[in-house]
Amino acid sequence: MTRSHSIAVLPGDGIGPEVVSCALEVLDAAEQRFGFATERSEFSAGAGHYLATGELFDAVEPRLRDRDAILFGSMGDPRVTPGVLERGFILEMRQRFQQAANVRPVRLYPGVPSPIAGLTPERCEMVIVRENTEGAYVGRGSTVHAGTPNAVAMQESLNTRAGIERVVDFSFRLALGRRRRLTLCHKTNILVAAGQLWQQVVAEVGERYPEVEVDYVHVDAMCFHLPLAPERFDVVVTDNLFGDIITDLGAVIQGGLGVATSANLNLDGSAPSMFEAIHGSAPDIAGTGRANPAGAILSLALMLGHLGEGDAARAVEAATVEVLGGLPALSGAEMGLSTPQIGTRIAQIVRDGRADASLVPDSLLGVLASLEPSRL
Ligand code: IPM
Ligand code: MG
Repeated sequence: MTRSHSIAVLPGDGIGPEVVSCALEVLDAAEQRFGFATERSEFSAGAGHYLATGELFDAVEPRLRDRDAILFGSMGDPRVTPGVLERGFILEMRQRFQQAANVRPVRLYPGVPSPIAGLTPERCEMVIVRENTEGAYVGRGSTVHAGTPNAVAMQESLNTRAGIERVVDFSFRLALGRRRRLTLCHKTNILVAAGQLWQQVVAEVGERYPEVEVDYVHVDAMCFHLPLAPERFDVVVTDNLFGDIITDLGAVIQGGLGVATSANLNLDGSAPSMFEAIHGSAPDIAGTGRANPAGAILSLALMLGHLGEGDAARAVEAATVEVLGGLPALSGAEMGLSTPQIGTRIAQIVRDGRADASLVPDSLLGVLASLEPSRL
């Protein structure tokens, strides 16, 4: 019987629909080549939908919950007050579906230019695992005397042992299948309470993984090590807000937001995981054909790895890298190809079985496939 996966597709706003449509074309090709099927349902969500209906994540949650995975485009629009969609949709989904680990690979692919002079792909192949449900992202805080000269704002960061432990344990297991080095990134010298809990949990969980070497770097120091000595890092585990910040830096090092991707993983199989590019909705270039669909297509690769389709995942990643490496620029009109042309070219390589797996290190998608929730 053909393997089949049920997926929800949320194209969202701005360039989301056009890059997701490229990813779906590549998915068609992968299904043909690797002999599996997907049952896809597309949901309207994002600014347009919110302005027309007032609906946010709540409205769609029951219909997403029983899917095997969610492929997400991007969300955001200048017509909606900042924070409404971010909190009401993206963070709601991550938290309600307990997508505890936000896995963000930082890989410099062959042929892709990095702004860091002299950086080579061998030196830049890490995964940043960002805690994805707690920290400053719980949205707790209060304001007193708002709008007056005496205004006071307090913003809380919530850190639970259970929340830290599950993401740290996952990171150790990821490291075990890779170069066996785990770096905790925090700010333990200032955020002492949270920092101590993170350090304690890393030390305790680390006892179960004696093969993995543990390292620690403050988040500010991370901002110079990451670009200048990326070879120091294999798996980095960090707090939600620090992870948000350093993964943008990681994206720059690997060639830009257009190629960066992420998996929001539910680690206990209680709800679906979600896969999204790191870039935003870029409303200024929506519909111009100038968006690079690589981030969305690489999200598809992560999703396929998670669904246990490791061979298809590797082929999609390799085909994307091949096409990216041949582009004169990674974004805008200078790419030389339009958004759909890039998608079609990648799909063709996957369909024809011409993807050259030697272009990508096999240390992420294969590991993700082996960490699929049903096997945890
Ligand atoms: C990201 C984004 C989101 C975040 C926003 C859009 C809510 O910056 O995925 O990194 O802060 O997590
Ligand atoms: Mg971010």
